[in-house]
Amino acid sequence: MRAVDLIKAKRDGARLSAAEIGEFLTAVTAGTVPDYQVSALLMAILFRGLDDAELTAWTEGMLRSGEVVDLSSVRGSKVDKHSTGGVGDKVSICLAPLVAACGVRVPMVAGRGLGHTGGTIDKLESIAGFQVSIPIARYREILSQVGAVIIGQTDQIAPADRKLYALRDVTGTVESIPLIAASIMSKKLAEGIDALVLDVKVGQGAFMKTEAQARRLAEALIGIGERMGKPTVALLSDMEQPLGLTVGNALEIAEAVEVLEGKGPADVRELTLELGTEMLQLGRGLAHDEARRELEARLTSGAGLQKLLAMVEAQGGDPKVLENGGAGLPKAPEKMSIAAPRGGRVQSLNAELVGQAAMLLGAGRETLDDRVDPAVGVVLQHKIGDAVLAGDALATIHGRTKGIGQAMLLLERAYRIEDRPAAARQLMVGRMQSRIGGSQ
Ligand code: URA
Repeated sequence: MRAVDLIKAKRDGARLSAAEIGEFLTAVTAGTVPDYQVSALLMAILFRGLDDAELTAWTEGMLRSGEVVDLSSVRGSKVDKHSTGGVGDKVSICLAPLVAACGVRVPMVAGRGLGHTGGTIDKLESIAGFQVSIPIARYREILSQVGAVIIGQTDQIAPADRKLYALRDVTGTVESIPLIAASIMSKKLAEGIDALVLDVKVGQGAFMKTEAQARRLAEALIGIGERMGKPTVALLSDMEQPLGLTVGNALEIAEAVEVLEGKGPADVRELTLELGTEMLQLGRGLAHDEARRELEARLTSGAGLQKLLAMVEAQGGDPKVLENGGAGLPKAPEKMSIAAPRGGRVQSLNAELVGQAAMLLGAGRETLDDRVDPAVGVVLQHKIGDAVLAGDALATIHGRTKGIGQAMLLLERAYRIEDRPAAARQLMVGRMQSRIGGSQ
């Protein structure tokens, strides 16, 4: 294989064979193709796309670049959830233990935040002692004993994706539906799962800004799951405004705990229940309403919260920091609110700007090497549809000195307030599923 021949073929709209793709990705993993040729092929794919057969070969090549975790020794069905990335999305932290409390095992390999979007791993690291890098043998053990485990990506899982993602990030080739789909699915299929539920975000704060784009991404993801024999369901959910009322690592952990205490914001609770219902349907074959009732009962009884505490302890964290509304989590020294410039109804609340404000405070990272500050972030007092009076606090910054001025400006721009009533937003935008497994 000569990389230049593949680049020219894709540039001119030809199909690449499975063998060519496999050889190319083996060479990428071995580091024997120069970055400029890898980048050129990625750009050709961004413009020309990949058909189903090419996409399957590309995903398999990335999957084979590392190990597929063998979970056959763990009894019961194993179902994971993956979100395509958003602002204020702390759902994995409530969902994994809640679903585990209902008897479906959740082996989760989660990501770190990048740019304006947050990452589950950064959030969990705000719990003192919590280990996100643990040997695969221990990952398996916690999954057996507790039922839920959440770790960060390891060198063994789809290493080709690390290389490709780093190049895509700096060559303007992130926004390609087949490349996003292969990147996500290669990592998820490496976890050793039986089935997968996807939360495909749509709106200003998401990669996919329109419902049509989100549906195309969901189709690509589901198609890969189907061809690899894994029942896959995708829920499309709104990411026009942040999810819940907190954006920032420790703040979001506290909100996830609130949800597991049977409280918390309605949207975080609802999305957790909707995704959990799909996971129980796939993992235990329950009917929709039965699955939902079980999840609600585990919220009310506190069984989901007990699972979270058990998972935190098993992963080296101190569960006591989560008591009393997360009183032991890191706290920022400064709090400053932005005030409504006028009265009226909140018409829009730009999730991307809120995410950027949190990032400037230190809650997120611009490059993968930046360190995050677990304590800082933003608490929203008002969301779309709320009535406000001039001077009311709209949002409060929890910060140190870093970035406060710029974050305040971004938050002021994020809110649009007008006199007219605001159009209600639907949290759940759509549902799609593979032709294997799952229910209607
Ligand atoms: N998340 C991923 O894991 N990969 C992408 O390409 C985009 C989002």
